[in-house]
Amino acid sequence: MIKFIDPQIGQEEKDGVKEVLDSKYLAEGPVAREFEKKFSEYTGAKHVIVTSNGTTALHLAIRALDIQPGDEVITTPFTFIASSNSILFDGAIPIFADIDPETYNLNPAKVEEKITKKTKAIMPVHIFGNPCDMKALKDMADDHDLKIIEDACQAHGASIDGKHVGNFGDIGCFSFYATKNLTFGEGGAIVTQDEDLKDEILCLRNHGRTPKGGYHHTRIGFNYRTTNICSAIGLAQLEKLPTMQEARTRNASILQKELADLEGFAMQKTPKGGKHGWHIAAGRTDKTDLTATKIIEELKANDIGSRQIYNVPSYKQPAYLELNDYYYWSKFVKFPDYSKVCCPISERVGKNHFEIPIQPGVTEENMQHIVSVLRKIFS
Ligand SMILES: Cc1ncc(COP(=O)(O)O)c(C=O)c1O
Repeated sequence: MIKFIDPQIGQEEKDGVKEVLDSKYLAEGPVAREFEKKFSEYTGAKHVIVTSNGTTALHLAIRALDIQPGDEVITTPFTFIASSNSILFDGAIPIFADIDPETYNLNPAKVEEKITKKTKAIMPVHIFGNPCDMKALKDMADDHDLKIIEDACQAHGASIDGKHVGNFGDIGCFSFYATKNLTFGEGGAIVTQDEDLKDEILCLRNHGRTPKGGYHHTRIGFNYRTTNICSAIGLAQLEKLPTMQEARTRNASILQKELADLEGFAMQKTPKGGKHGWHIAAGRTDKTDLTATKIIEELKANDIGSRQIYNVPSYKQPAYLELNDYYYWSKFVKFPDYSKVCCPISERVGKNHFEIPIQPGVTEENMQHIVSVLRKIFS
């Protein structure tokens, strides 16, 4: 089976972890600091703060930007549930805007329609590693005095005109979950250019302690730290990231080139000036008589791993349909009736897309097999 996920774990990661174990400095410390320094070089971000995962990074972003219960944050429903959940953790309200039918990212025109007096921020998600239209979103945010939190959890290596994603908004958040292009096992990071935000995040991440440490607490914060063990895995991964990204890009380019003329088949479009991070290569069927479910079955029958990811938009998740009945914050905040929300493009893409393996372990020969099987399926 050609796998769509296969973390590239080798001797370097094992050596890094062994060194940490031998040092007995297991908690977050020098190895995490080293990772932050190197990730800052990789992304060009002024400040990098590692976290326990991408979800806690997003939650810290919401807190640090002082987004309050009842405030609205506009985001996409075509994403992992963590994006909008992080808004809900503090009683803020996710407002869903529809996506662009080709990039699968927030459509700026649809975002603008959703802005109200209660809107405090926009949370674009660079879905599958495809950079969002940050220029349009940033202009809009500036016009309406809104903050931007970039969910770059899937977007390692993605950039716009050479600038790494995560650096366009006030705060960018990354995930280093086991399946991501760079993994800690579990881990995440926040990037920001703002010194004050960095200090606030450092404090909130560590039980409200001042960055100097000790037992002086100026905020009610959290324990969203990581460990030196996880950071050692990440540090070894970061060394390999450029090579792993090259392999993903090569594999995705094979699909783009070899399947460009295939009728009824489409791949996600990257906006002008954008560089895709290729966390996921999503194919799409535009044929009414060929469902994504059928394609996935056929791919699997030919030893090609595949799946559908966000076929249920976030607003249709059972937890969202009953928010006003059971969720703690509903005692203080009236949430929208999400059963009335409809983002037709998100629903359509959700139904018609399927994942194609491109991870670094997939060879050019594997890609040729995938190309020929997809050609057979679509004809
Ligand atoms: C788009 C997106 N946002 C947020 C997250 C949350 O990251 P984590 O799983 O590290 O908490 C993920 C991870 O899967 C993600 O894909």
